[in-house]
Amino acid sequence: MASEAFARWTARTEATLQALLPDPAIEPSRLHAAMRHATLGGGKRMRPLLVYAAGSALGADEALLDAPAAAVELVHAYSLVHDDLPAMDDDDLRRGQPTVHVAFDEATAILAGDALQTLAFSALADADAPAPLRIDWVQALAAASGVAGMCGGKALDIDATGRSQALEQLQRMHALKTGALIRAAVRMGALGGGADTGTLAGLDAFAAALGLAFQVRDDLLDIEASSEQLGKTAGKDVAQAKSTYPALLGIDGARVRLDELAVAMRDALAPFGERAAAWPRWANWRSPARTERRPGRQKERARSCRALSVSVACALT
Ligand code: IPE
Ligand code: IPE
Ligand code: MG
Ligand code: MG
Ligand code: MG
Repeated sequence: MASEAFARWTARTEATLQALLPDPAIEPSRLHAAMRHATLGGGKRMRPLLVYAAGSALGADEALLDAPAAAVELVHAYSLVHDDLPAMDDDDLRRGQPTVHVAFDEATAILAGDALQTLAFSALADADAPAPLRIDWVQALAAASGVAGMCGGKALDIDATGRSQALEQLQRMHALKTGALIRAAVRMGALGGGADTGTLAGLDAFAAALGLAFQVRDDLLDIEASSEQLGKTAGKDVAQAKSTYPALLGIDGARVRLDELAVAMRDALAPFGERAAAWPRWANWRSPARTERRPGRQKERARSCRALSVSVACALT
């Protein structure tokens, strides 16, 4: 049941993105092709899935959620294009393909990121939804993308590279660079479902824990998974002296933090009972350490990671 919903939401996301992205047969075709390269053909689509999960839990029509689901993925795709640029993390592999500046060129990658971002806000402004809701969505996504969200977090990430920072600062950096968009996804879905203030706050507690956990997990995977499994270059954080949870707390310390955050996620979802039934994929997250202590499960996970390649199984189960 939950997996059917996830498959349906993923298909809706792909269809909406396909429809929104400009046609590469039309000029400027190189820019259009780069935007499509960045957005289609890969990615776990976790942020759109969260929009649908939150909205559906509150009874929203799935069609209403298409625009915010696609919009948050467009901002995320733009953030990845710019994250990979030579001036940032200088990466050449993303979602199992060459990064945009490698497949195209640096100027095109910068422009593609810019254009993906504005496309996201157009999608929200033009959505078939009441105007107050569209404004709420735009506010949520803008706040999460800018200085108080993803961009601000990446600036902190650059400042922290090559030096160690206190746990509190590291947590703030992670919460901004990755957590903010994840929280916005949940908030936009909940707004689509007409959530009241209490419900928004309850779901936000879940999303805040998930957002932080997601980057802790990303940091662990950078060490423990292969480039093939991840579809992006493994081992980059140590090579570039990035400030990460494993760098500060060690691998075991980061795993403990991930387990604590999984408990926080489950606690936050408890009041939602059956309505959050589709969510155990996130709330039952286990750290890699626990998986490894169960050899049968580890084999099963390794098999599914290989089978699904750059897919949900590697990073989300
Ligand atoms: C990667 O995000 C960047 C981080 C915020 C850690 P994802 O792991 O969601 O990347 P895709 O969308 O599946 O490629
Ligand atoms: C996520 O951090 C930054 C973004 C918000 C895109 P990373 O730099 O660790 O992401 P990956 O590992 O390159 O996907
Ligand atoms: Mg980065
Ligand atoms: Mg990076
Ligand atoms: Mg990373």
